[in-house]
Amino acid sequence: MANKKTVQLTLYRWAGKFLFFRIKSRCKECDIAYTVLQRLINEQLSEKPVSLKIIPWLDNFWKVIWRGGWHAPILTVNNKVFSQGKVPDIPKLLSTIGNVLDDPSLVQLGKANIEKSVIPDKESDITVYFSPACPHCRQLLSYLDNNGIEYSGRDVTQSETAREDVKRLSGRLSIPVIIVKGEVVQGFDKSRLENLLGISVADEKPIISDVQKIIPHFTNKRLRDIYEKAINVLDKNKIDGWTMPSNRLYPHLWNWDSGFISRGYLYYDPERAYLELRSLFRGQWHDGFLPHIIFNPEYIDHFPGPDYWKANNSGKVPPGMFTSGISQPPVHATMIVESVTLDPEKERALSFLKEIYPKLKELHNFYFNERDPLSENLVSIVHPWESGLDNAPLWDEPLAAITDTSKWALSMQKQYDEFSEQGERPKRTYIEKYSYLVENLFKNNYNWQNISENHPFLIQGVLFNSILCKSEHDLGKIAEIIGLNAQDHYEKADKIKTAINRKLYNEAEGNYYNFDLVANKHIKRETIFSYMPLFAGIPDEDRGKVVLDNLRAHCFCIADMDCVAIPSYDMCQVDFEGEFYWRGPVWVNVNWYMAQGVRRYRETELADWIENSLITLADRQGFYEYYDPDSGKGLGEQDFSWTAALVIDLIEKQMRKGN
Ligand code: GLC
Repeated sequence: MANKKTVQLTLYRWAGKFLFFRIKSRCKECDIAYTVLQRLINEQLSEKPVSLKIIPWLDNFWKVIWRGGWHAPILTVNNKVFSQGKVPDIPKLLSTIGNVLDDPSLVQLGKANIEKSVIPDKESDITVYFSPACPHCRQLLSYLDNNGIEYSGRDVTQSETAREDVKRLSGRLSIPVIIVKGEVVQGFDKSRLENLLGISVADEKPIISDVQKIIPHFTNKRLRDIYEKAINVLDKNKIDGWTMPSNRLYPHLWNWDSGFISRGYLYYDPERAYLELRSLFRGQWHDGFLPHIIFNPEYIDHFPGPDYWKANNSGKVPPGMFTSGISQPPVHATMIVESVTLDPEKERALSFLKEIYPKLKELHNFYFNERDPLSENLVSIVHPWESGLDNAPLWDEPLAAITDTSKWALSMQKQYDEFSEQGERPKRTYIEKYSYLVENLFKNNYNWQNISENHPFLIQGVLFNSILCKSEHDLGKIAEIIGLNAQDHYEKADKIKTAINRKLYNEAEGNYYNFDLVANKHIKRETIFSYMPLFAGIPDEDRGKVVLDNLRAHCFCIADMDCVAIPSYDMCQVDFEGEFYWRGPVWVNVNWYMAQGVRRYRETELADWIENSLITLADRQGFYEYYDPDSGKGLGEQDFSWTAALVIDLIEKQMRKGN
């Protein structure tokens, strides 16, 4: 008879609220406990009947206090307290699970996991204690690598002994810790290290990957240099299998960012492109939904973190993952469809496409089934952030119509203020509405049917639906490549195209506009996003001409090409703001789409101008999140991943054309 025994692990982390008290401080042990357990489940227990639940302690303290658990992180095994106040001892845990399941192999595995402390005793030894997901650890490790300094690395998420060592050495569990010449240095303290190691900043080798090996076909020195710098940005933001958009304001895994990033990797490290998407889809919910953020366990207490979204209460989030509760434009099929052409190892590309195809299909089906309330072949979004264009003027009217606000607004404001220049990020009135919308989503427990009936923000977006249309078509191509039937995908893409032309096109204005389902009307704002149907080939030739004339007639710098690239908002609008997040600046991803769009309608000169401008911007300013259209000044986050990845794509295309 089959063994029916199962093990439920529950981790109570230092988070949550009770009456008026809300936990705001961080608990390093809790973060590491989470990483360690998640790894254990994925790597050593994936075949065993063991599941993991992570819950905020203060919301649930009564469930565990009477069992003797009071000090987070508390781990229970089938409701019995296993450990508290520290990261669980993994060998002991494996043995306990082995005993519950009558599985001697686990008990053995537990014994094999026990290792000895290896604090260096020689003066010359250097040891680094790190965790793969911690950005400062990564900076420290790449600093050592780039300076050719040898060290032994100890991953605290892999070893109880390493954690004990860290506590013994520095008095707390905070990483990175590096021991140099017997001295303990906490954090990545570059000048102290330089003193201890006897190197000066001038000696420091530039942080440059082995680009000669990666891109040997490059003859154009300027382009090769920019490419090299782009690779370094992606390297700098890389974490254990995925890439942060930037390592300051955006330390998590973001949905469409990862799509763009995978496109860059595809040219010089396809395996990493696959890993990026694999990591992203690990956060896919049971209903096919793909969240806009998969939280980095090292930063789950940052606001707005998992406690704010309360997505895990929906019962749809995969075990052990923390995610937000809204999505982002589904760019992924388009980003990966060319892998069989670009990856020199065809079999590898093919096997990845076979692996990712069902997940992409589930994602697209989620939109068709859950987000098309009027069955019009048009998907609606439930939050401005879901568009990816968080603060665009498109949302002003729909947000103004919402009268409720939320108590969370202040915390969100603080987060923006901490990281951003004055005047670059959203104002308080918007933030209050953003928070309210999230509150309504979690109050409905992410039941999309209910949300479509009572939510005050439901918009059929031009950009979102154009991206979906193109991706659905590219999913068809993927199906063909892996020998499946593509017809349904092509037909669905055609239906979306027809729907965009029918409902989002405004004959009188000769332009595409978002449709507000709550107010039941077009949102007539002159943003660049109106022109997104071009890249998906949505207008026919005649309509394409009308739309392009419209583009020229507005102030998008097209006629004289006198900006640094295309701004996101018509510069003649009274509320245009060149430095303000999505309300004027140049964005690389949007310009990248625009170049493909106008090229498709044979505007070659314009397309070349856009693409060259983007490369020049990266060259002169660096890889910023966005740029001032007049001066080209880099704005927002520096060393921004999708800017780097898409510039790689543009350079590759230029090199392939023989420039
Ligand atoms: C901002 C952008 C969004 C992006 C995120 C991470 O919120 O508006 O599109 O995904 O940053 O880069």
